[in-house]
Amino acid sequence: MAGIDEAQASPPPAPPRETALQARPDRAAPAVTPARSARQGLPMAGRTCVVTGASSGIGRAACLALARLGASVVLVCRDRSRGDAALAEVRGAAADGEPALELADLASLAQVRDLAARLAGLPRIDVLVNNAGLVLGTRQVTADGLEHTFALNHLAPFLLTSLLRPRLVASAPARVVTVASTAHRGARLDLADLQLERRYLPMLAYANSKLANILFTRELARRLAGTGVTANCLHPGTVRTNFGRTGSPALRLGLAIAGPFLRSAESGARTLVYLASSTEVAGRSGGYYVSCRPRTPSRAARDDDLARRLWRLSAELTGLPG
Ligand SMILES: NC(=O)c1ccc[n+]([C@@H]2O[C@H](COP(=O)([O-])OP(=O)(O)OC[C@H]3O[C@@H](n4cnc5c(N)ncnc54)[C@H](OP(=O)(O)O)[C@@H]3O)[C@@H](O)[C@H]2O)c1
Repeated sequence: MAGIDEAQASPPPAPPRETALQARPDRAAPAVTPARSARQGLPMAGRTCVVTGASSGIGRAACLALARLGASVVLVCRDRSRGDAALAEVRGAAADGEPALELADLASLAQVRDLAARLAGLPRIDVLVNNAGLVLGTRQVTADGLEHTFALNHLAPFLLTSLLRPRLVASAPARVVTVASTAHRGARLDLADLQLERRYLPMLAYANSKLANILFTRELARRLAGTGVTANCLHPGTVRTNFGRTGSPALRLGLAIAGPFLRSAESGARTLVYLASSTEVAGRSGGYYVSCRPRTPSRAARDDDLARRLWRLSAELTGLPG
């Protein structure tokens, strides 16, 4: 069967020849309608995918694509009405599984913990997609006293994934997919000032959080080796979404001007869906992907010592054992 059935603990000797659907799921996906929804032939039938940031943009488009491939999608959203709207759309597109909605403000560590406790009750989690993220034009502090961009973009995926690790391992082969960004190349990550208390610049906070996504993925892959759970991350391209609306006036203006030339959310979801569903990446872990291909990230993003130190600090900040 296509999809993510293949054992992931060790890489296959050579990538199996893919159908167009597997290799570029959302580009090549045929019009799979419920009438055609015999489970056989749907690459993700029987699979449960949890997607954060599902109410908009790349996350919403990914939920639609995964549902069309037969997955049961759990949409994680912070707003009830936006979540209900996304759920209805995904339900309309679902080829096999039944989608569900979970509400959580992921900038709150307590709400991430509550969410993880609810998700741990799922029979299985085959794919966890850490997608929710933003950029903030001014420095804001969460109820936990953490700089908001860092808390949402990095600490939430760190905590959620760590708490769901037992469920993921029990569901192996399983995958963790985290949406990073090419913006990580502009990062200057100072572990002594993770909260940017000395000097806050919106794009620096964002770039640092996206570098943290890649370092997290690297260290997670190392820690998950041998469990059958893989961890990969990606840059989705520059995509026309709600991203940037909470950013600086300059960013908002730039995105408004560039908007018509940016990729659609569907196109932006392509690499995410590929990493979540393609047999091409079965067993491959610790990678950074752009346009469905592995890409070498910045030198800082390949610093395994930095990844380990960031992991330990993130564990301290979220109250987890290191
Ligand atoms: N767009 C790009 O060009 C681009 C490029 C590189 C990387 N990315 C990354 O792609 C990911 C998705 O962004 P997008 O472009 O699709 O932007 P988007 O349309 O703004 O979507 C962001 C999602 O995150 C959710 N979110 C924000 N704050 C949250 C919170 N506190 N708790 C729970 N959910 C929250 C949003 O929910 P609401 O609907 O409630 O706001 C929304 O569903 C982000 O990680 C971003 O860094 C985007």
